[in-house]
Amino acid sequence: MRPFDGSRVLLVVTGGIAAYKSVILMRRLIEHGAEVDVVMTEAAEQMVGAVTFSALSGRPVKRSLWEEPLAHIDLGRDADAIVVAPATANIIAKLANGLADDLASATLLAAEAPILVAPAMNTRMWENPATQANVEALSSAGLVLVGPASGPLAEGESGPGRMEEPETILAHLGRLLEQNSVLRGQRVVVTAGPTLAPLDPVRFVGNRSSGRMGFALAASAWRRGADVVLVCGPTRVDPPVGPRVVRVEKAEEMLDALRAELDGTAVLVMAAAVADFRSESPRTGKLKKENLAGIDIRLTAGPDLLAETLKQRRAASVFTLGFALETEDGPANASRKLHDKGMDMVALNPAGEPDSGFDVVTNRVTIIDRNGLVEELPLLAKHEVADRLLDRVEERLGGGAE
Ligand code: CTP
Repeated sequence: MRPFDGSRVLLVVTGGIAAYKSVILMRRLIEHGAEVDVVMTEAAEQMVGAVTFSALSGRPVKRSLWEEPLAHIDLGRDADAIVVAPATANIIAKLANGLADDLASATLLAAEAPILVAPAMNTRMWENPATQANVEALSSAGLVLVGPASGPLAEGESGPGRMEEPETILAHLGRLLEQNSVLRGQRVVVTAGPTLAPLDPVRFVGNRSSGRMGFALAASAWRRGADVVLVCGPTRVDPPVGPRVVRVEKAEEMLDALRAELDGTAVLVMAAAVADFRSESPRTGKLKKENLAGIDIRLTAGPDLLAETLKQRRAASVFTLGFALETEDGPANASRKLHDKGMDMVALNPAGEPDSGFDVVTNRVTIIDRNGLVEELPLLAKHEVADRLLDRVEERLGGGAE
């Protein structure tokens, strides 16, 4: 999976209890197509056996400066990215001060590849001014620090010091590997999930959107280095690591959030399944059972978010990618929506097919844009659809997506 497929990652494991989580991190990297070399310190081997890493990676673990005289130079040179996980106070101090007295520290000192550091230590060691100064020095030097998270620590205390979860480190590593996107540093707003039309304090009219397509787009944009705002209706699926999440329920709330975020935005992705109606008169008290038989619920049109933001989007030159969910006359309806709603690109999405659309992990879309592009994509995982769509967006913004 992009961007790990074919990349070389060097995993440096130092002596924290969290070293067992680095085994999972390594497995996830390999599953995503990365080649992983592992360097362990002597202290790390007190926590997890080197054989665990070598058996799972299929490559020998490097442990000493003296096994292969130039390993510390080669390892750092050959890697596309380096991740130090867990990173103890000791390796952070060595790295900040240029010490090189074992294979791990010498490799890090000689490395040219970008480095991600995932600290893990006791809270008081983390909060010690010496550690904080070292961490500050690493940040200033351009290293990426992920964590530590707060929570229960091995020694029974609680506070900042836990190594971040492997999935979180993986997401940040993806962003580190993908350096050349035109979306880097740009603001991208993505809407996702359903919006609800409340009938009373406990009931609503909604739709089956899981939010997965929008989440995949937000994750892909964030991985490309964008500053992503994810405006998201109620979903059961967790949003991805990275984007700033703004939670809403009703279409009107999603519209308010959009209006507040649009200025300064380069790309708007409207993946939300916005409810097209609202209840004419939502009740303030719960509708009682005895009054439900034969009840008439009158619905009225809700706001069209794209129509409502058209002027603001044009004034701010926001490139807009939307979806068209259709059961019939797909291409014609999608092209009409593209023009009527002032979109720059639309993903035509057939509704009612078991393997695409709502609440499944795959999707089949056709990309249509204002320049006459019509590109039918095969059935793909939603994260792959998201990548293809954003590649096209990048091309349109003048970038170099392949
Ligand atoms: N959309 C919107 N506001 C709405 C409804 C939809 O901004 N009230 C956006 C969607 O996020 C999507 C695009 O408009 O990007 C098209 O949505 P779709 O549901 O396909 O079309 P509708 O406008 O709802 O039209 P219809 O229901 O007639 O197909």
